[in-house]
Amino acid sequence: MSDLKVLIVCLGNICRSPMGEAVLRDVAKKRGLDIFVDSCGTAAYHAGEEPDGRTISTCAQHDISIEHSARQIQTSDFTQFTHILAADDSNLRNLERVKPKNATAEVCLWGSYLDNKPIADPYYGGINGFERVYQQCLSLSNAFLDQVANDKKT
Ligand code: 4NP
Repeated sequence: MSDLKVLIVCLGNICRSPMGEAVLRDVAKKRGLDIFVDSCGTAAYHAGEEPDGRTISTCAQHDISIEHSARQIQTSDFTQFTHILAADDSNLRNLERVKPKNATAEVCLWGSYLDNKPIADPYYGGINGFERVYQQCLSLSNAFLDQVANDKKT
């Protein structure tokens, strides 16, 4: 196991971040990297729920296995994880607000590893938005691992 521990964060933890978690884990595995990946939300509205059906079907179309129970960010995440990656600026601001003084994780926009673009919330839109989220998660997973995991092969 490498020492990378990555937490992907969105609002509800049922659409974007569980997909990001599943895609990053898959991309890392295909690179021969054994990293720990989890996801959570800044809000608790959906705590305990499985991912949105549109996230599950989009992952299935791309042969990505996904299994997650939604949870909210907690203080200990800031010391348990090495990287906390926010889907958009609003969630990044929420993370900064609850970040404890002793935080050791790097907390940033996931898009900062590529193009500084947010992953737009697909919840109120159609299935196409979920395919866009998937493509972004794939590009961002590669960009992230290109920058942080080059010397962490197991
Ligand atoms: P997520 O999407 O943050 O990508 O999981 C959302 C899920 C639920 C809600 C908003 C966004 N909601 O308002 O309940």
